[in-house]
Amino acid sequence: MKLLCPPGVYRAQTDTAVLIRSLVRSGLAAGSHVLDIGTGGGALALAASRAGAASVTAVDLSHRSVLTARLNCLLHGALVSVRRGDLFGPVGQRRFDLVLANPPYVPARTAVLPRHRVARCWNGGPDGRTVIDRICAAAAERLTPRGVLLMVHSGVCGAETTIRRLADGGLAGAVVERVRIPFGPVMRTRAGMLELRGLIAPGDDQEELVVVEARRAA
Ligand SMILES: C[S@@+](CC[C@H](N)C(=O)[O-])C[C@H]1O[C@@H](n2cnc3c(N)ncnc32)[C@H](O)[C@@H]1O
Repeated sequence: MKLLCPPGVYRAQTDTAVLIRSLVRSGLAAGSHVLDIGTGGGALALAASRAGAASVTAVDLSHRSVLTARLNCLLHGALVSVRRGDLFGPVGQRRFDLVLANPPYVPARTAVLPRHRVARCWNGGPDGRTVIDRICAAAAERLTPRGVLLMVHSGVCGAETTIRRLADGGLAGAVVERVRIPFGPVMRTRAGMLELRGLIAPGDDQEELVVVEARRAA
């Protein structure tokens, strides 16, 4: 699927593709009300629409991403409500059958998350978990009783930690997909720092992408 991607907007990558694959395999989008958190250019929102979602809402912090996602949805004839704001903020108290998230998850030097630079797309705080943890804490409140969260991130951030944090928020989570990929340019430039912090082993040049699926604990 061809998507417009102006400077400053996340170009859909392997993490996007891995989450789309999990989405399609799960069959969860059909007939569902779907929320895409951190939509970037709208790739996941469009995939959900194509997979038969009853409605798709997409949110991003970045004006440029919101405009791009709107344009991409228009060009592909998908009816998606794209809103600007912080995570679940723009959807108020509404609950969704399916929440998709490919959040910023690359460990960064600083805890300050950039709001206006493209690094906003990948910087996830010192351990990469700042945005992931916020999603884990808030997701249960935004899911319908049988709702599901599908989230992708790097194994460097700790899939087990995600599952624990989801459990703290009342959701039972499991890893449904793992894919090993070579470090991309951002991970390559940070490999030394990640090694010093013990987040990767010396000489590592690959990471695992994990897709975590979570639903209300029984
Ligand atoms: C890794 S990109 C994923 C983009 C797209 N979903 C994809 O899979 O290709 C993360 C996106 O989250 C957005 N983002 C970062 N922090 C956010 C926040 N607090 N609330 C909403 N969106 C945020 C970024 O602007 C960026 O577009």
